[in-house]
Order: sequence, then structure tokens, then C-alpha cells
Amino acid sequence: MRDFLTRLPNVELHLHIEGSLEPELMFALAKRNNIDLPYATVEEAKAAYHFDDLQAFLNLYYQGMSVLRSEQDFYDLAMDYFQRASQEGVVHIDMHFDPQAHLQRGVAFDTVMAGLLRAKQDAEASLDLSVGMIMAFLRDRPADEALEVLEQAKPYWASLDAIGLDSAERDNPPAKFAALFARAKALGLARVAHAGEEGPADYISQALDLLDVQRIDHGVRCLESEALVRRLRESQTVLTVCPLSNVSLNVVDDLRDHPLPRLLAEKLKVTISSDDPAYFGGGLLTNHLACAEAFGWGEGVFRQLNRHAIEEAFMREDRRQALLQRLAEVSAQ
Ligand code: ADE
Ligand code: ZN
Repeated sequence: MRDFLTRLPNVELHLHIEGSLEPELMFALAKRNNIDLPYATVEEAKAAYHFDDLQAFLNLYYQGMSVLRSEQDFYDLAMDYFQRASQEGVVHIDMHFDPQAHLQRGVAFDTVMAGLLRAKQDAEASLDLSVGMIMAFLRDRPADEALEVLEQAKPYWASLDAIGLDSAERDNPPAKFAALFARAKALGLARVAHAGEEGPADYISQALDLLDVQRIDHGVRCLESEALVRRLRESQTVLTVCPLSNVSLNVVDDLRDHPLPRLLAEKLKVTISSDDPAYFGGGLLTNHLACAEAFGWGEGVFRQLNRHAIEEAFMREDRRQALLQRLAEVSAQ
């Protein structure tokens, strides 16, 4: 199975690049920038990665990214993940990044963008990999601040594929960001949002109705509303489901209880992603292998999941057609 999965053209639609910061690189960047970490060793950092819920994770996630200061740091962060993902058979990544989390720490917008865009350019030139850019907004920050940051991003609008919405979901409903998403739509940017991870099914409906998103990140709690499931099936709206993330953040108790098989049985357009691979136990291949074991999935399911992701990804049409062709040509074991 591992060999087959590695040969598939794998596409990941939901990846926070700051969540790909492995402890080894975190220590190297802390040393480069003379920053004290709350951990003495890589092992101690890894041992701290046990979370009761989304907020507990976010606290360490924002702390971890404090080592990112220079353009080179952002380049190294992204390139490190691109290389690892590529070795595991990933051919396209739609990458979320969180500018507000860096602006708050006094890191300039240009520093973040220059490093990430240089890594994207180098990866696309040297690896069999394409990268989509999703500028995400922190939903636990004020809506006005998000609007200001979107305007500040003007020099980069042409380099963005979409805006996204992430961070602490509870009590931060999509409705709070209706004006932001309307502005992004007017600019011609695609829109995605985290919804129905910890928040209720109604947040998924709000994201569709008030933010006009084209995909839902996570969305697993849609199963709490029959009407919503019917709607998602009819519209074939993609859900970017992150199984090991859901286990790590106690959205589900055990992978074997994960709603993924039910989502597929409902004929929803499901895809699989790793979310924050450095914190949740591994990248896309690890997620795929865990699902194969937990659900007894065979090769056909992984072909279908990757077909959904290729159809939806922010990529050029010629590459999309080439990847669909490659998917059809990957032989069985
Ligand atoms: N930011 C990084 N990972 C996230 C997640 N799983 N949910 C919400 N915000 C995030
Ligand atoms: Zn996420």
C-alpha cells in the first residue's frame, strides 16, 4: 500500500505551512535568531504535543512560529516541507499561511511573502510540485483588522489564489467576516473557510451562505444536519478532511470512530489533508496509511480522494489535466 500511495499523484488542499515546522527546524531557527524556546530538546518539544482541544494546540502553534523572523526563515520553513512532501508523492499543495500571526510579532508582511513565494518558485522549478497560496485570516482577531490586512496585501493580490479563515472556531462564526469575504470576492479571489471542525454544522451553512466559499476546511460536523448533508452532496462542495488532526484535537476519540467512511457513504466530495503535520503525527502519506488501516480502504478509495483533490486544487488547467491523466495511469500493485 505504501508503494502504491507514493506512486499516486497526491494532492493536499489543507496545509498550514506554519504547522509544518518540525521541532528540528524550530531549534535550528531559534539558534539562528537567538530565541529561547520553552523546550530543552527536540524530544521535549515532541512530548509536549498532546492537546485537549483546538485552543490548546493553537497556543503551541503560535508559540512555535515565534522562531520565524527573516525572509530566509520563511523560505526554509516552506522548502523543508515541500521537499519532504514531494518525496512522499505529493504533487500539489494548497498552502495556508497566517500573516496576522507574524504581523503581531513585528514581522513585516513583505518578509513573509518574499520567503514563501521564493520557496514556491524554487519548488515548482526543481520538484514535481505545484503550490497554491491561501492567505488565511485569524477568526479570533477583529474583523476590521482582517480587512486592513487584505488591503495591505495589495502588492500580492495577483500572487494569491484564495483567502481562508482559521484559528479558534468556537464563538467566532463566519458571519463575523462577511465584509472581508465580499471584498475578496470583488477582488476576484477564491474563498475557503474552516467550518464544522469544533464549531457546529450551522457554521458550515453560514460559510456557504454569507462567505460564498467554494470549499469547506474540515466540515466533519456537517453530519449533524441532514439538510446540510443533502446540500453538500448536491453542490459537490469539497470538504478538506484532516483525520489525524481530528484525533489529535479530540474532535474524534479514535480514528476508527472517524466520520470519514460515513461522509463517503453520503457521496460527499471528500479529500484528505494533514493540516499541521509537525504537530499531528505526520504528513499526507501518514494520514493515508492510518486511514487504510483504520477503515480497511483499498486502492480505489485513494484514487477517488485524489481525483476529488486534483479537480478542486488551485492549479493551472493544463497541470490539472496532466495529473488526472497520471492518476488514471498509475498501475495497481
Ligand atoms: N490553524 C492551524 N491549524 C488549524 C486548525 N486545525 N484549525 C483552525 N485553525 C488552525
Ligand atoms: Zn486547518
